[in-house]
Parts: sequence; structure tokens; C-alpha cells
Amino acid sequence: MRIPLLNASGCLDALTAPTVASQLDAFVTKTVTPLPREGNPPPRIAESDAGMLNSIGLQNPGIDAFVHDTLPRIAELAVPIWVSVGGFAASDYSEVCERLDDEPSVDVVELNLSCPNVEEAAESVTELVAAARAVTTKPLYAKLSPATWDVAESARAVEAAGADGLSLVNTIRGLTLDAGTRRPSLGRGVGGYSGPALRPIALACVHACAEAVAVPIVGMGGVTSADHVLDLVAVGASGVALGTILFSDPWAPRRIRAELDGSTTATGVPSERRIHDFVPETTPRRRSSAK
Ligand SMILES: Cc1cc2nc3c(=O)[nH]c(=O)nc-3n(C[C@H](O)[C@H](O)[C@H](O)COP(=O)(O)O)c2cc1C
Repeated sequence: MRIPLLNASGCLDALTAPTVASQLDAFVTKTVTPLPREGNPPPRIAESDAGMLNSIGLQNPGIDAFVHDTLPRIAELAVPIWVSVGGFAASDYSEVCERLDDEPSVDVVELNLSCPNVEEAAESVTELVAAARAVTTKPLYAKLSPATWDVAESARAVEAAGADGLSLVNTIRGLTLDAGTRRPSLGRGVGGYSGPALRPIALACVHACAEAVAVPIVGMGGVTSADHVLDLVAVGASGVALGTILFSDPWAPRRIRAELDGSTTATGVPSERRIHDFVPETTPRRRSSAK
């Protein structure tokens, strides 16, 4: 079974780079919230030794404009679509998920439960997944933070709440200072750290969660080569997403696919743990009566 390659949410605009998006096995959108958001004040990107910091702050057009304008145009690419959903309360997650449930072009919903650049919802990740589960029949992936004491415990909890898969990991909070002023480089101060420094952290999280749960896992964090993809699969990922690398090498999906095709390492994804869109026989879940 070939290893599916996706983009990491927020790291590729399919409408600006449609050829790149078409090379993926699924396209993951930037996180969508109920209302439009302008995001955090600039600067919103800063480089660091082994990665980059961002504090975009979930800039997005809101669910109305997304459904009417963005989604139909992404659907023209004929790539499976995963929509990333965010919010600031369980009701935000359920509102956006309910809207997406009627959209046939949406294959999977990924719940962003772990953005370090905005205020967190008061509810637990388990409650947020349960709220989404109650209103959607779509496969639900829970995207978790690496900054938890016991990520396996969170994984078990979201699986029990109805998650069909996990996306691991989101960025981890970091701070860089301007060398001249010794003031934070980012407008918001702190940001989410991504790139190569995240790779061992992502491996540890995927490893811990794969031991703890049965659902498929999309691994991500600092992937820049086929070797990194194979490492994540070796510890239990069923698909791999490319994030920060896309800013410096937008053709990374094509390059890494070619590297994988030429690899002598015989690593595939076990059939019982394939990610959604690669399991056509998946039975849709029943809509809960709690709606
Ligand atoms: C500029 C930027 C924007 C991001 N926006 C989102 C987002 O909207 N939603 C989300 O779930 N993750 C977002 N992420 C996190 C990535 O999806 C990914 O989890 C993280 O960057 C780790 O992968 P990487 O090291 O390969 O970049 C963003 C990351 C970056 C660098």
C-alpha cells in the first residue's frame, strides 16, 4: 500500500498553487472558523535555527465564504479534500462541522484542537470532539498538540469521543527575539514552532499514540525527505503531511514521492490502519440523535 502524502493545514494554498496541491493524495485546508478572522498583527513569521515560528492566528474567510467561494474552487482540483475546523468553544466546532456535513466535496474533517496562536476553548479536547461527532457523519480527525504531558492519554480520550483518526502534531509554542532590539520578532510575541526541530517530538508523539489507539494517524512535523516519511510510518503513521518544507520547496510532494518510489525500504501502511479516502469501503457513521 503506497504511503499517502498530504499537506499540513495552513502550509499550502491550493488556489495559489493548484499544481502542487494536485500532486497530493489529499489536500488539507487552512483552518476554518465560524466567522471571518483577520489573524494576528504582523510580523507573523520568523525564522529560527532549526525551523520557523508563525503566529498567523487562524486568518480565514469564515465558514460562509469558505463554503460558497473557496470550497467549490478547491473541488475543481479533483483531489480529496480535508477541511480543518477550528474555534473558541465547542459550539464553534459543531457549527462549522454541521455546515460541512452537507457538502459532498468534503471527504474528511480535521479538528484543529491545538493552535498555539489563539486563545484556547474552555472545553477539553474530548468535549470538542464529542460536539463535532454529534453533528457530522464525515470521518473526523483530531489534531493534537505535542505540548501535553501525556499525548497518548489525549489520544485515547478523543478516540473514545468518536474521532476516526489523529493528526500529529501541531506546532509547539516558541519565542524568538530580534537580535538588535531583544524584543519579540513576532507581533504577538509567541508563535508556533515548526520544521526540523519538531521531527523527534512528532516521532515520539506518533509512537506513543500508535501504541495507545487503533485509529489511523497522519504524522507530521519537520518532514523534508522520504526517510522522514518512512520514520513516521515505522512508528505507526498511516499517512504523512508536509508543512514547513512547502515554503522553501513547493515541489517537495513530487520529490518525496519519487524518493519513496525509488526507496529500497519495503515499508507500507498496514491495511487495517489506512487513513480515510484510502478505504472506500468505510461505512459512514450514523448521525447522532443528540443533534
Ligand atoms: C505558517 C503556518 C500556518 C499554519 N496554520 C495551521 C492551521 O491553520 N491549522 C492547523 O491545524 N495547523 C496549522 N499549522 C501547523 C501545521 O499544519 C503543522 O502541524 C506543523 O507546522 C508541523 O509540521 P511541519 O513541521 O512540517 O511544518 C501551520 C503551520 C505553519 C508553519
